[in-house]
Amino acid sequence: DLMKQIKDLEAQFTVETPKLHEIVAKFQSELEKGLTREGGSIPMNPTWVIGYPSGEETGTYLALDMGGTNLRVCEVELPEEKGQYDIYQSKYRLPEELKSGTGEQLFDYIAECVKQFLIANHEGEDISELKDLHLGFTFSYPCTQDAIDHGVLQRWTKGFDISGVEGEDVVPMFEEALERKGVPIRITALVNDTTGTLIASAYTDPLTRIGCIFGTGCNAAYMEEVGCVPKLDHLGLDPNLQIAINCEWGAFDNERVVLPRTVYDVHIDKTSPRPGQQIFEKMVAGLYLGELFRLVLVDLHANPEVKIFEGQDISALQNEYSLDASFLADIENDPWENLMETHALFEKNLKIDTTEPERKLVRRLAELIGTRAARLSACGVAAIAKKKGITSCHVGADGSVFNLYPHFQTRGAQALREIFGWGKEVREDPIQIVPSEDGSGVGAALIAALTMKRIKQGI
Ligand code: BG6
Ligand code: GLC
Repeated sequence: DLMKQIKDLEAQFTVETPKLHEIVAKFQSELEKGLTREGGSIPMNPTWVIGYPSGEETGTYLALDMGGTNLRVCEVELPEEKGQYDIYQSKYRLPEELKSGTGEQLFDYIAECVKQFLIANHEGEDISELKDLHLGFTFSYPCTQDAIDHGVLQRWTKGFDISGVEGEDVVPMFEEALERKGVPIRITALVNDTTGTLIASAYTDPLTRIGCIFGTGCNAAYMEEVGCVPKLDHLGLDPNLQIAINCEWGAFDNERVVLPRTVYDVHIDKTSPRPGQQIFEKMVAGLYLGELFRLVLVDLHANPEVKIFEGQDISALQNEYSLDASFLADIENDPWENLMETHALFEKNLKIDTTEPERKLVRRLAELIGTRAARLSACGVAAIAKKKGITSCHVGADGSVFNLYPHFQTRGAQALREIFGWGKEVREDPIQIVPSEDGSGVGAALIAALTMKRIKQGI
């Protein structure tokens, strides 16, 4: 009886309001802990992005974006007009095999993309003469930074497993690769995608206080007063100085005490290249949503009481990470009562002929996984707001899950209402998660500009 099975899945994947409260409280205390010298599992990395842009930044900058899926090279022009920008860019595929190769292979590939971009966009110019271009490198992995143009990779996340990079400063590694390619450009700023998102959003929307990525990975950045960061005390900085903190909140609950994990979450973690790491991220980020869904279906097929896909060859479904979040998104977008698009999806991608009750189950499962991701993600936003005493603001957000996964935004907003107790009398949600400007293009360029300004001012 598939109805019973649906009820059982609902019990496993639903996060009720009281649990949201419990998670937010723990999240908030973990954010605090990350700022102290003892630390906790959330890294709370100071980024050396000091303060917001004024809107008066100008100049032409290169921005390089190495996120979860694509590689992008951009040239960004910040004109005299406040809050404006022009951008042109090229996208490159990041070949799958590079994600488990060596650091040198990775950085050589990226450097080659930068070179090709420059050749295409600076026709007639000598590449070896482009020394004056400043590069903002959006490298979206946790880094320890003691300056904005340094960053020691703490660990790979999002399924990357490249040897020889963890524990090393990625800036010289990349600069050496550029040098090997005859590209004499230095990195002005090493940026996280969340910090880029925060800065780019603040540039065009002054209500912005938090930048978030809901994509292949999940993370956030916000501005903190140096005086609230005990682990920076020893530097004797002005306590009122504003510094962006890259939370790396994907690591929330690595000690596994509060998140309502299912056996499937446990499995994903155990079989990942970094077990025990990014426990929160593994429940909410795009990289894992399809895999969670796949694991549940494989499990139900093996369960003699459920008899899902009975008598069918499920070998295609047995391939790890063969379904990505867009598969769930397509199922959730299926407009038909009898879910005929879902039928076609299963047939085409998995060679499985589904019955209507089976499709009802898989649709509900996609909803449950997508809803849980949105509700848990909202807990992080609420925790930062509570920690900072923010009662109203915009949260700039980017990433494939935020932009493309159906209902992610409304589900997240609903969770925030439950967490903050905004009832019907509240006409407009005080804290809103809104689509951001291009964080890794404009944001990285702005951060490079801010850095150059500080260098010129000698601070
Ligand atoms: C892109 C940003 O829009 O979103 C990247 O330019 C960011 O910097 C990315 O890493 C996150 O989304 P996804 O889905 O590609 O991980
Ligand atoms: C992972 C990375 C983090 C990044 C996020 C979104 O969590 O560790 O640096 O911001 O993914 O791309």
